[in-house]
Amino acid sequence: MTSDALVDAALKVRENAHAPFSKFKVGAAVLDESGRIFTGCNVENATYGLTVCAERVAILKAISEGARKFTRVAVVADTDVLTPPCGACRQILWEFCGDVELVMSNLQGKSETLHLAALFPRAFDASFL
Ligand code: THU
Repeated sequence: MTSDALVDAALKVRENAHAPFSKFKVGAAVLDESGRIFTGCNVENATYGLTVCAERVAILKAISEGARKFTRVAVVADTDVLTPPCGACRQILWEFCGDVELVMSNLQGKSETLHLAALFPRAFDASFL
């Protein structure tokens, strides 16, 4: 448990990760403008390529439940160097969250907060279409 409910939600859902191939469990949680929290864990597949990251599971669950505006994202993994979202997840997070606040944490309670643009500068998005 931490003092941050969003990080706690990501820590908890990480336990549900289906990661028999990498053994690398990730939890993610997104907070919408009304205070709802949506969570996701990574779900791997024997093809490897069909694996879905925790961040995308969380955001797609949120979208499918009708959430649209997000204020924070949390990502938790068991690494000393805090685990950032992969490139594909950065693109998906940008699509739905824009330059959202992102907190990365580990199981020891180490955490760092930044904004997505710091990880994903000069993003391609609908403004170009
Ligand atoms: N993974 C995530 O779920 N999120 C990330 O930000 C990085 C990677 C997952 C995908 C795969 O199941 C495992 O971690 C190893 O890459």
